[in-house]
Amino acid sequence: MTKINKNIFKAAWSYDEAPESTEHVQIKKQYDLYIDGKFVKPSKGKYFATFNPSDHKEIAKVAEATKEDVDKAVKAANRAFKGWSELSGKERGKYIFRIARLIQERAREFSVIESLDGGKPIRESRDIDIPLAANHFFYYAGWADKLEYAFPNRKPKPVGVAGQIIPWNFPLLMAAWKLAPALATGNTVVLKPAETTPLTALKLAEIIHESGIPKGVVNIITGAGETGAAIVNHPNVDKIAFTGSTGVGKYIQKATAGTNKKLTLELGGKGANIIFEDAAIDQAVEGIVNAIFFNQGHVCCAGSRLFVQESVADLVIEKLKRRMETLIVGNPLDKNTDIGAINSKKQLQTIENYIKIGLNEGGEIYQPNCKFPKNGNWCAPTLFINVSQSHRIVQEEIFGPVLAIQTFRTIDEVVEKANNTPFGLSAGVWTEKGSKIFHMTQKLNAGIVWANTFNKFDATSPFGGYKESGFGREGGLHGLKPYVKFE
Ligand code: NAI
Ligand code: MG
Repeated sequence: MTKINKNIFKAAWSYDEAPESTEHVQIKKQYDLYIDGKFVKPSKGKYFATFNPSDHKEIAKVAEATKEDVDKAVKAANRAFKGWSELSGKERGKYIFRIARLIQERAREFSVIESLDGGKPIRESRDIDIPLAANHFFYYAGWADKLEYAFPNRKPKPVGVAGQIIPWNFPLLMAAWKLAPALATGNTVVLKPAETTPLTALKLAEIIHESGIPKGVVNIITGAGETGAAIVNHPNVDKIAFTGSTGVGKYIQKATAGTNKKLTLELGGKGANIIFEDAAIDQAVEGIVNAIFFNQGHVCCAGSRLFVQESVADLVIEKLKRRMETLIVGNPLDKNTDIGAINSKKQLQTIENYIKIGLNEGGEIYQPNCKFPKNGNWCAPTLFINVSQSHRIVQEEIFGPVLAIQTFRTIDEVVEKANNTPFGLSAGVWTEKGSKIFHMTQKLNAGIVWANTFNKFDATSPFGGYKESGFGREGGLHGLKPYVKFE
């Protein structure tokens, strides 16, 4: 086995601080609900705070939408439906293109707000979240006048009012994934962002307003679980699109059973990242880091279970540990930061609890020495070895920077282990052999399988899961389908 020369890792670089400026960013002290083309006060006059998870300071207050407010938003969407759905696809496309361009124009501001409100590194919000969100609008704007080509010889009709509930891990991007296909196909929308990260969706409401889209076509309301439940249970909502926890997904499936509501669910995951002995090891190590430490591990398709072929396991784990020592944990607004703040205190507790569970179950932990900023929610990149299929940290979604490592000898063994999970969202395969890649993609029960890469997203390719990871696809041609019906 190849031995690593340890000296090459000793000369680690140190970086000066490189904070992104916040001067160009405009955040109001308080935000209202965007209903029927206007910002309106919540009916009970209640507001709640959203915090910066890297210093626990309040950023702004946002409105808490009650059942009455949800009803107002759904009614507005209902009234707007006829006009919007009867508009030509070309005209609808113009508004969606306009939204895409406005996001691009204000990309810097969006990136900073995303990192302030949610804790993710500015490098990610700047290079991934915001550009991809604009991409989604561009991509679906292009479909708006080509729906008859998307569904040849069939006449696709919009479903009606779509209720869309999104999580806190990719706030603007998830809003784009939901809004763009719904609008392109002629539906009207009531969208609710997550309670810890509402700000970019509210900024998006400003842009949507600026685009001149007819009033009531898009309504953006804020609140927590109760507001979400009021959307789900509203009798005049025709379609629900949800991304979030498997628990809430199950509740929504029950709540919509026996109704005419169309439903798509994008839930949790426990992705297998599989490294064969013939893989390019250094690239694979980068891939492992990206698979589990991207966005602090708050990623439903994270590669949180690593399977390494036994013959290269020691080498891979040693290289991985060395690489983890160089990861910079800290200020999300610093351009050097690799791992930002954990999104909320609640999520930090969840992660810390899983780390305890892993230790109690006999796992062997490794964490590099990290210096954390004083306040805020921080978690070191973490790996566990000496774990097996029955360990809870191998079976359950942690949604944090915690990797569980197992080894394997044969293809059949790793396929069986990889598929032995209630989830089925993502997987990664690292090998030099194309035939092995094709074999594995056939065998793995996962909606997305990456080959020699991980966590790559593209507006043109479908994303979604099997089993408890949910159903329905977002992105690509497939992403139009949940928003149309045929007569
Ligand atoms: P959550 O599922 O409670 O939150 C997601 C969204 O659903 C938020 O907008 C929330 O306000 C809304 N919501 C909550 N209860 C609802 C209800 N009864 N009806 C309708 N909408 C409701 O997720 P939470 O508690 O923030 O995170 C818990 C765990 O869920 C995480 O640790 C992670 O494992 C998983 N998760 C998975 C995500 C994914 O992308 N698949 C995203 C967020 C969380
Ligand atoms: Mg926040």
